[in-house]
Amino acid sequence: MLPTSTHLKIDVHSTIPAAAEAVVALVFEEEKSPRWKQLDAERTDALHRLLASGVVRGAAREVGVDVLPASGGKFRRVYAVGVGKREKLTTEALRQSAGAALGALRQGKVGRAALLLPADPGPLTPADAAEALTTGSLLAAFEFTLFKGTAGKKDLAEAKRPAALSIIGDGKAVRGAVARGTIIADAQNFARTIASRPANDINPPKLAGVVQAMAREAKLSCRVMDEKQLTRLGMGGILAVGSGAMATPPRMIVLEHKPTGRRPGKPLLLVGKTITFDTGGISIKPADKMGKMIYDKCGGMAVMGTMLAAAKLRLPLHIVGILSAAENAISQKAYRPGDILRLYNGVTVEVTNTDAEGRLVLSDALAWGIEQFKPAAVVDLATLTGGVITALGKTMAGIMSNNDRLVTELTEAGISAGEKMWRLPLGEEQREQIKSDHADIVNSAGREGHPLQGGAFLSYFVPEDGSVPWAHLDIAGVADIEKDLPYYEKGATGWGVRTLLEWMRRRI
Ligand code: BES
Ligand code: MN
Ligand code: ZN
Repeated sequence: MLPTSTHLKIDVHSTIPAAAEAVVALVFEEEKSPRWKQLDAERTDALHRLLASGVVRGAAREVGVDVLPASGGKFRRVYAVGVGKREKLTTEALRQSAGAALGALRQGKVGRAALLLPADPGPLTPADAAEALTTGSLLAAFEFTLFKGTAGKKDLAEAKRPAALSIIGDGKAVRGAVARGTIIADAQNFARTIASRPANDINPPKLAGVVQAMAREAKLSCRVMDEKQLTRLGMGGILAVGSGAMATPPRMIVLEHKPTGRRPGKPLLLVGKTITFDTGGISIKPADKMGKMIYDKCGGMAVMGTMLAAAKLRLPLHIVGILSAAENAISQKAYRPGDILRLYNGVTVEVTNTDAEGRLVLSDALAWGIEQFKPAAVVDLATLTGGVITALGKTMAGIMSNNDRLVTELTEAGISAGEKMWRLPLGEEQREQIKSDHADIVNSAGREGHPLQGGAFLSYFVPEDGSVPWAHLDIAGVADIEKDLPYYEKGATGWGVRTLLEWMRRRI
């Protein structure tokens, strides 16, 4: 079993199990006396009272609760959770409402609950609704407790509730959707769990071990290239970035999923920036918030989670995922500003700032991966620049691409998955801006439009003629959060897993 940092188990029942201590019903705006076919009169009345009194109006994420007496001095709770207008219902609204419901159940110390699947989810199919409620609940149940010690035992007990959620619905399509939603959320929660592990616990060689164990369980093929192989291949970028970390050298981790019983076609290639810690190197970062740089591996974590789910879902697609892993440390062996590197495709780079390390590890992986696998399309994910946070904030990723169609595909998949992105330009100006006097290009030409420089830099490592559709997702703003969101606690989000899976599903 791979760690997911959640104790919640979700199943499907056609009627409310007797053991359920609470029932959760979704309520729509402007609907005062809805009926639920699985619900008795008493509980229906309780929900109607919540609506009639205005305690709950059906607005998204609103929660109201009523308590009814039950036999043996026990109580039955009825929760009403708002989801907005029925005709405007989206999978994202359902994920968020499931998150709100989970929060209320946890706070109310409910161990077992039942969640009524809406009979008419407006524009959605019951299966889509069931999948979204499943993922929203499981993502909201995530709590990273690996490092809670003897002083944190009490908190640990709280994290175990609720332990069981029965989705009340019927039919094969709904059961299949709950199974799918569970695979996706578990994969994303696995990615969040590993992403949350700090740098004294995880580093490139150890991460390679974690990914190999995952690959065995998921029946993915996995190849790990160590520093000797990287040297042989001429991967001057990842080697330079990892050179300062003498005890924790870089690793390039390659996962491959092939559909069973088919000739594998041209694969989709995913590449993730996997910096297990980013000190900035000799161009050191300020101390304030440097600890957050444990999350600089989140691009790779998204790739890892996506590959896990793709295998478990048995997607009939050929997919390759590369985690380009290094620790950007400071030491006598660390690479320096002024150093000139030769990357895998022969492009030379003058290092102007050792803190612009992500593009160096990604470029070797992009150039090698494209040469090796001749992919139909390439997507890289990277916590690449603070500038993308300044530009777009913490609610959307930046996307840069050489292919309009790929941008549309990914943006639409993202909307459906509840992960927004906004296009930023990939331009000749920035390719010019980063030219070097002594080498081909510099890794940073200062802070002017630096997310765009990142994209322009990477463009030197994909075919210039546009023959390979490629998109770069700068996820620095969305990979981790400092405030809780409807279905994410603060920390790693696993951003990207759902979008990539949705994108792939639409390409089948
Ligand atoms: N990992 C950082 C980007 C980052 C910053 C992610 C803040 C999340 C929060 C990246 O390696 C970096 O240091 N980028 C530099 C680029 C600059 C040197 C051109 C940055 O953003 O300042
Ligand atoms: Mn950096
Ligand atoms: Zn970084």
